[in-house]
Amino acid sequence: MGSEPLKVGVLVSGRGSNLQAIIDASEKGDIHARVVVVISDKEEAYALDRARKHGIEALFMDPKAYPSREDHDRAMGDELEKRGVGLICLAGYMRVLSPYFVGRFQGQIINIHPALLPSFPGLHGQLQAMEYGVKISGCTVHFVDKDVDHGPIIIQAAVPVLEDDDEDTLAARILEYEHKIYPRAVQLFAQGRLRIQGRKVIVEGGVTPLWRVTNPSLEE
Ligand code: GRF
Repeated sequence: MGSEPLKVGVLVSGRGSNLQAIIDASEKGDIHARVVVVISDKEEAYALDRARKHGIEALFMDPKAYPSREDHDRAMGDELEKRGVGLICLAGYMRVLSPYFVGRFQGQIINIHPALLPSFPGLHGQLQAMEYGVKISGCTVHFVDKDVDHGPIIIQAAVPVLEDDDEDTLAARILEYEHKIYPRAVQLFAQGRLRIQGRKVIVEGGVTPLWRVTNPSLEE
């Protein structure tokens, strides 16, 4: 029935739990998208094993094998294009992409960040939030532009920060929601419902927001 599933390429550097969430949603039929290739800049990334376990092509592309960042990005871009990828998901990909790559795939690259952007961009978003003392943090999926953790926001989830949290407990609580919002963002993209208007992402067909999170709660 209907169209071919959207072909997705995922860039990773590490454990790949967000990649797993996207693969699982795809296999369950929750999203009309299929991961066709996973590319890592780290040979030992567990994400590559996860991909292979699901019969997905997994490539290690060593940045050191290319004279410049742009050359590495160009080679990655060629691999993605060869496979007809329509969406590129960054899932714990730890290298900054060149303006060349971002320009080549304008509006087709999305990223997940473990904080409520524009707060706490960069590394250790969870620790930054904790140390700042916010009561609510969360996670964000956004389009990628030439600045790090900056492009138009697609979806966010709010997660409370508890008084006895450490970086790991907060990261785990946020991660649970990363695994929900990333597949959801992929599905909205696959459905062709995301329209970028300046800094805003309009979700066509409407969305139902949930207004609930306060911390501490409003009641005793
Ligand atoms: C996640 O916390 C994600 O938000 C950040 O890097 C981490 C990747 O985790 N960009 P995983 O590799 O998906 O498990």
